[in-house]
Amino acid sequence: MAADLLIHELGASGDGVHKSDSGPVYVERALPGESVQANIHNGAGGVLRGDLTRVITASPQRITAPCPNYDACGGCSLQHVSDNFYRNWKVDVVRSALDKKGLKPDVWREPVFLPAGTRRRATFVAVKKNNAVMLGYFRRRTHHITDIATCLVLDPALMKLREGLVTLLAPILQGGKTADIFIQSVDGQCEVVITGPVGKKGTPDLPVFEAIAQLAHTLKISRVSWRARERDTPEVMLELNPLRATFGKLDVALPPLAFLQPTKLGEAVLVGAVMELLPNSGTFADLFSGCGTFSGAMLERGRVDAFDNIEPAIRALDKAKGAQPLKATQRDLFRNPLQTDEANTYDAIVFDPPRAGAHEQVKALAASKTPLIVGVSCNPATFARDARILVDGGYKFESIKVVDQFTWSHHIELIAAFTKRS
Ligand SMILES: C[S@@+](CC[C@H](N)C(=O)[O-])C[C@H]1O[C@@H](n2cnc3c(N)ncnc32)[C@H](O)[C@@H]1O
Repeated sequence: MAADLLIHELGASGDGVHKSDSGPVYVERALPGESVQANIHNGAGGVLRGDLTRVITASPQRITAPCPNYDACGGCSLQHVSDNFYRNWKVDVVRSALDKKGLKPDVWREPVFLPAGTRRRATFVAVKKNNAVMLGYFRRRTHHITDIATCLVLDPALMKLREGLVTLLAPILQGGKTADIFIQSVDGQCEVVITGPVGKKGTPDLPVFEAIAQLAHTLKISRVSWRARERDTPEVMLELNPLRATFGKLDVALPPLAFLQPTKLGEAVLVGAVMELLPNSGTFADLFSGCGTFSGAMLERGRVDAFDNIEPAIRALDKAKGAQPLKATQRDLFRNPLQTDEANTYDAIVFDPPRAGAHEQVKALAASKTPLIVGVSCNPATFARDARILVDGGYKFESIKVVDQFTWSHHIELIAAFTKRS
């Protein structure tokens, strides 16, 4: 159904929201204050969506998106808005998530907005037709692949790599089938992880191994791994050089698909912001540690116990520790959270969970006497839920800092500090 709509606000996913009697209508690429023409339909989960057909009255905040692929690509959602509006909105997303839970930190630390063109990891979707490979992104909420030759968000070195992959993936992939191609660059070294069917029968055969060797040597890729499905652990097909990352005192040999902060600069800002909060010495826990982004820096101040549920990450940390006072433990912190008496043994605990947050873990922390708890989160809603539990357990919400390393998307990262009230 076509309709003229007034856009009342920007929703947490970056869509314009029209508040109708039948509920909110989400209109992609529309801005608050605008009148737009849109085709309304039922989207996934019964949500009303409007496909924007015309902007009738444009917001003064509307700008021309800098990326030529913006209309066709689903990677970015907020290129059509002024920088000032974008920055304020990102901080407001965090503020309103906290408001909903009745939370007010004592201090809002200066937010940091990182530049575009620095993202060091990306997953492209590849499809082979008539022996030619198209490597692009899915259009938002569709299965339509947009072939992209430029991406302003990614590190240009990765885009160059993408160009080479278009040709060299052809003998590896199966015709007519899609595969995910993950590329990550770590201090000048690159890895590629292919997820999906390859070769004649869907799994690596001799021609696939030969084509992978050709690809790795030609494009100077340190490691190529493969897995059939997303839930599988990637198998290393070829490793020319180990992929290593330095985190403070740790030099870690990264396993395939290792979690890294999306930008090197963002990693430095997050680590710096966490370290500003920690005492100069003590015993620390790094919960949801990954391969040690925070543990490495924390080791410069004392003993660190790191916990994560991914075995290869914990093994890599354990190998890297040498004589450092680090204990790395594989533990599912959702099912088997650190208990309150364990938490009491630390001077400070840092937790950096996935988007789902750390509900069970935070319940145990809230009851502890740990003097300082630092939360790092990429999901303001689950963070606010967890922060409420800490505050109800007797923690004071000292400060929050917003870090935007997901330029032009609706995603945002934050660091928050809580101290135990005496
Ligand atoms: C946002 S990443 C942070 C990693 C690390 N702190 C960093 O900055 O590189 C979240 C981490 O949580 C881990 N994780 C996810 N679910 C978990 C669970 N149930 N128990 C323990 N760790 C989990 C993931 O393996 C991942 O390393």
